[in-house]
Amino acid sequence: MIKKIALFSLYAGMAFGQGNTHNLKAGKFDGLAMTPPMGWNSWNTFETHIDENLVKETADIMVKTGMKEAGYTYIVLDDGWMTKERDENGNLVPDPQKFPSGMKALVDYVHSKGLKFGLYNCAGIQTCAGYPGTRGYEYQDARFYAALDIDYLKYDWCNTQGITAKEAYTTMSNALKTAGKPIVFSLCEWGDNQPWEWAKPVGNLWRISGDISPCFDCEDNHGTWSSWGFMKIVEMRKDIRKYSGPDHWNDFDMMEVGDGMTNNEDRSHFAMWCMLASPLIAGNDFRKMSPETLAILSNKNMISINQDALGIQGFRYSVIDGVEVWVKPLSDGWAVTFLNRNASTSTVNFDWKKHIFNDADFGYSVDFSNNQFKIRDMWKNKEAGNTSKAFTANLESHNVITLKLTK
Ligand code: GLA
Repeated sequence: MIKKIALFSLYAGMAFGQGNTHNLKAGKFDGLAMTPPMGWNSWNTFETHIDENLVKETADIMVKTGMKEAGYTYIVLDDGWMTKERDENGNLVPDPQKFPSGMKALVDYVHSKGLKFGLYNCAGIQTCAGYPGTRGYEYQDARFYAALDIDYLKYDWCNTQGITAKEAYTTMSNALKTAGKPIVFSLCEWGDNQPWEWAKPVGNLWRISGDISPCFDCEDNHGTWSSWGFMKIVEMRKDIRKYSGPDHWNDFDMMEVGDGMTNNEDRSHFAMWCMLASPLIAGNDFRKMSPETLAILSNKNMISINQDALGIQGFRYSVIDGVEVWVKPLSDGWAVTFLNRNASTSTVNFDWKKHIFNDADFGYSVDFSNNQFKIRDMWKNKEAGNTSKAFTANLESHNVITLKLTK
């Protein structure tokens, strides 16, 4: 037993001390995601059908359409970028058919546009789509990513029989740290092992549910697992808000805006991701994006709510006749979203003076009976009076109104 412990400390020493001229400390790279990461991920639309042209075109469009300027920074290639086998040295191999110019050239291209680049792998022996997983290759793969100069790693949880999530994610986090290139570490174990309770020192964001589906509140049953409409995910994880904040975000999954829901539903989806301070990782095909989808995703008012420096995940304040009222403390006021879950149009009639917002988790509260705020409608982008009189409006089915209150 004594021998084993001695051996363990020797290995630990090799990883984090021996031979280094500076002190490498275990744990994630701090400060890489002080506001929720924004970008694009290939999975929701393309699954494994990805290639270098798709990435280049997506990067070009992000610049041309103003998505980059609105804050979308990361282009993340999800599952399917590798060949089915590692090479004779155990290195991962980017698929030469999909990426004939090589992955490094693609990373450089994305960087040349002022954007950042991310890749995907998995803690298990294989990824979910059957490509080589990282188990047993953590330090080698971390060096591979550092040499490619990537900026973001999404790390999944398929084929992980016999390992525990906290240890597996900690190992990869330490490996990235040791490889030395600052890389945002995005945990994707679907909330099965409550990452919000242990992953703050390990990663910058963590998925909190199974996969999203492009629907309002459906459940798509795939046999052994389900994917979820966006309101199902919201409902599932609205109560773990105190675990989310700058550099350690609850990740409500890549967005499905522009993937087939109605315009109202897309607006509600985006509004909720903003109110919940979720990472804003788009999942639609930017090459075929409608003007409506672009307007939603690049709405600067809404993005400012998501990116607010306090980084507080909003909460559901009340439900009045099927209209939910969501509230988020901001560094300069409050954001309020009315969301109509009913199948038909509802009337919102909200008499501020009768309400007290109290955020017990983060210690913010306001009593409108003795506090007056100016109101701005964030979707209409115009002033909407103040809180001295009731706010009234008609709200279509599955649509939202988002207001910002400032002094
Ligand atoms: C899991 C993840 C998805 C996606 C796929 C890829 O299902 O949750 O987001 O990365 O794997 O195979």
